[in-house]
Amino acid sequence: MNALEGRQISFSYPRHGGQALLTNVNVYVRRGECVILRGPSGVGKSTLCHILAGIIPRSISGQVSGEVFFFGENLRFLSLARVAETVGVLFQNPDSQLFFPTVEDELAFGPENLCLPRPEMDKRINEALAMVHMEEYRLVETETLSLGERQRIALAAVLSLQPRILILDEAFSQLDSQSVSVVRDTIRAQKELGRAIFMVENSEEHVDLADRIYELQDGQVREVIS
Ligand SMILES: Nc1ncnc2c1ncn2[C@@H]1O[C@H](COP(=O)(O)OP(=O)(O)O)[C@@H](O)[C@H]1O
Ligand SMILES: [Mg+2]
Repeated sequence: MNALEGRQISFSYPRHGGQALLTNVNVYVRRGECVILRGPSGVGKSTLCHILAGIIPRSISGQVSGEVFFFGENLRFLSLARVAETVGVLFQNPDSQLFFPTVEDELAFGPENLCLPRPEMDKRINEALAMVHMEEYRLVETETLSLGERQRIALAAVLSLQPRILILDEAFSQLDSQSVSVVRDTIRAQKELGRAIFMVENSEEHVDLADRIYELQDGQVREVIS
């Protein structure tokens, strides 16, 4: 069974004259696998991420057909809470997903929503911070951090939910080299833990992370040999 699967996905945005952005797209990611999606700007990579994460059509509207499955279960029939604990998404700009004044508050939010007991919550926060090498930043105000550090905190916040599927949408593109290397190590560690990773990434620098590569062009996805 695939960890993540998009089957026959077609999509158009409401005010795009009904023109399809994606046409019968099929993608899958197995447990412990990292799959890269690449393609030119504006081709629909982020849109596909939003569909695979259930953000489209739940929070952003559009005409979707086809199905998304998390471990064989149709996303359509999963509660928002189930979706949120199964899939973690990291976008290009960390500031779009940081909401709290301090690092600790940011990392506590997800586990709090899962109603985890306090000791388990603390453990999750510490582990997530350790994963992005920012243990000593727990009480720091997020806005004092560099962009790379903020991205690492956004990643830690995602990881504190221990999602079995990770979707990273050009998560490296604005980072300094130290943060790039931390995020790369984290991806490898997550693979080792058996997590499924779907990653939009055009840079050749990161192809070594990929077990397989998809290319999106003219609304179609095809698998390529790297
Ligand atoms: N919320 C939206 N409403 C309407 N059009 C959108 C929306 N988001 C993106 N688009 C358009 O859809 C196309 C694909 O965007 P996107 O998925 O962000 O591409 P990529 O990530 O490959 O650069 C672009 O033409 C973009 O302008
Ligand atoms: Mg994009």
